Amino acid sequence: MTAIPRIAFNDGHSIPQLGFGVFRIPAEEAEQLVGQAIEIGYRHIDTAWGYFNEEGVGAAVNNSGLPRDELFVTTKVWNSSQGRELSIESFERSLETLGFDYLDLLLIHWPAPGNDLYVETWETFIELRESGRVRSIGVSNFEPEHLHRIIEATGVVPALNQIELHPFFQQKLLRDFHDLHGIVTEAWGPIARGAVDDDPLLVVLANSYGRSPAQIALRWEIQHGIVTIPKSATPARIASNFDIFDFEITADDMAMIDALDREDGRFGPVPSEMN
Ligand SMILES: NC(=O)c1ccc[n+]([C@@H]2O[C@H](COP(=O)([O-])OP(=O)(O)OC[C@H]3O[C@@H](n4cnc5c(N)ncnc54)[C@H](OP(=O)(O)O)[C@@H]3O)[C@@H](O)[C@H]2O)c1
Repeated sequence: MTAIPRIAFNDGHSIPQLGFGVFRIPAEEAEQLVGQAIEIGYRHIDTAWGYFNEEGVGAAVNNSGLPRDELFVTTKVWNSSQGRELSIESFERSLETLGFDYLDLLLIHWPAPGNDLYVETWETFIELRESGRVRSIGVSNFEPEHLHRIIEATGVVPALNQIELHPFFQQKLLRDFHDLHGIVTEAWGPIARGAVDDDPLLVVLANSYGRSPAQIALRWEIQHGIVTIPKSATPARIASNFDIFDFEITADDMAMIDALDREDGRFGPVPSEMN
């Protein structure tokens, strides 16, 4: 079976570079689809309290027959659960729903700056990590000003920042900031929700490599050292999105994909405006 590369965190742990995203996977299908993903070879699952499918994710992991430490699971604390008490409650509820003794990675889902609770939430995450029930802590959708604030307030640098990132919105400045501070970049929406299929360059490259546009986008992320978590509820795509470790995009073709970046390429919310 293909060995998935791992990316080192700044806290001594590491994460499989390819994961299975489960946003919009209905609760009743989660156990079966995550089970299929694990059979295909995925060893990293990305869920959130707000996806309402943690129970199925946990069941698939717990029934996989694999030792718990061969699988890496991320969940997230939703905006309405920020602040000390509510974030502890949210973490404990997630851990119980997943049916785990420990979690691999806990993220603040959005900074939600209007609530101004993300620094307090980050301080709470540090305590939770010290308790040993979560191995690594990080954030999602944080911009440099939010990262600066939590690092200045606590001295603790997040292991990872999960952000919208794909060939049409490449987040180069934020990636440089991450590299400078030792934060791993993780891409959500890595195939732009399927829009990669309509891009002429990605289609041409896909044909020349004998791959799909989604595989080209995911491979481009892998070669940039980015952790990527494509979602699919379609078994053939779950398999093909995993099948990206036996070819390499040339430097020239990487540069052509780099040039697809667009200022208006974001399809999701602007983090500083989301509460
Ligand atoms: N932190 C955050 O705020 C945040 C936000 C959004 C997402 N996420 C995480 O990131 C994961 C991935 O992001 P995402 O689900 O938004 O978008 P995505 O992975 O870029 O795209 C998923 C969409 O693309 C389709 N698709 C999957 N494989 C394909 C292929 N090979 N060719 C063409 N289309 C394909 C899927 O359809 P089918 O399912 O029908 O196959 C689905 O509609 C999520 O599941 C979640 O875990 C995090």
